[in-house]
Amino acid sequence: MEPETLFHGEVSRRGLLKTAAGAAGIAALTMGGMGLFSRAEAKGGATEKWPWPYVKLDPEKTAELAYNEWYRVFCGAAVINSVFSQLREKVGEPYTSFPSDAFVFLEGGMVGWGTVCGSNAGANIVSNMIIGPRIAGPECENGAAIGADALLWYSETALPTFTPKEPRQKAKIIQTTSNSPLCHVSVGKWMKESGYALGSPERKDRCARVAASVAYKLVRDLNDWKDGTYTQKSAWKPASNIGITAQQNCSECHGSNVPTPPMAKK
Ligand code: HEC
Repeated sequence: MEPETLFHGEVSRRGLLKTAAGAAGIAALTMGGMGLFSRAEAKGGATEKWPWPYVKLDPEKTAELAYNEWYRVFCGAAVINSVFSQLREKVGEPYTSFPSDAFVFLEGGMVGWGTVCGSNAGANIVSNMIIGPRIAGPECENGAAIGADALLWYSETALPTFTPKEPRQKAKIIQTTSNSPLCHVSVGKWMKESGYALGSPERKDRCARVAASVAYKLVRDLNDWKDGTYTQKSAWKPASNIGITAQQNCSECHGSNVPTPPMAKK
């Protein structure tokens, strides 16, 4: 079976009828757009079977690990390693084979380009590794949902929320709300408010604490998912409903003159 083409989360009606004719397909249909996915055939190896085994982790311990890992591998890989290093010990494979350090490139919003904060990218990598990608079936959609929640929470929360037991910087690290999952915006607003430069030890410690905060929140969501009590907080859906990929706070960048995506003009 060929994987169905997913354009903005839509699957063709023909594909749907062909592949999801059973009760599950009808249930998916009645969900009104959510979960309209046929199971895509995994092209990869043995690790592409979801969910990966997960045992509940201590958020506090995970955050401490992320904080300290930041000083070795920076935000994205710190979040990934804080979770996977523990699962390597408690579970073994497939975590043992996963090359977490490869994700150092997420630093600075990906190799310093200030795009999505690496902590958010790391959280999405972890949730989508453990729960699976949405194309693998409806039971895997929480992987993307937890990832989307991470971005929403990151944007709306005064960060960092986590204070390590033994902070490497003794100066007060203020909290700022970025209203954005972007590294550039998040770090920029914090630097403006705090007066610390990018190269300062305080800014570095702030980012280490932000990574730790994200890891803490991520593990809480994963634990809830494991318990079957996780509910999605963000408005994330597989299908884009506004005609453009975007943060939802349009006026932050566009002011009062938010352009209408061409699709919506028709
Ligand atoms: C982080 C900042 C940011 C946010 C938030 C944002 N945009 Fe944009 N958007 C931009 C930039 C920058 C451009 C490119 C503008 C240009 O070249 O004129 C753009 C371009 C667009 C375009 C295409 C250009 C046009 O004039 O038609 C549309 C449509 C658009 N945005 C809609 C939205 C909507 C709707 C939202 C909220 C759901 C949103 N944007 C949120 C920064 C943002």
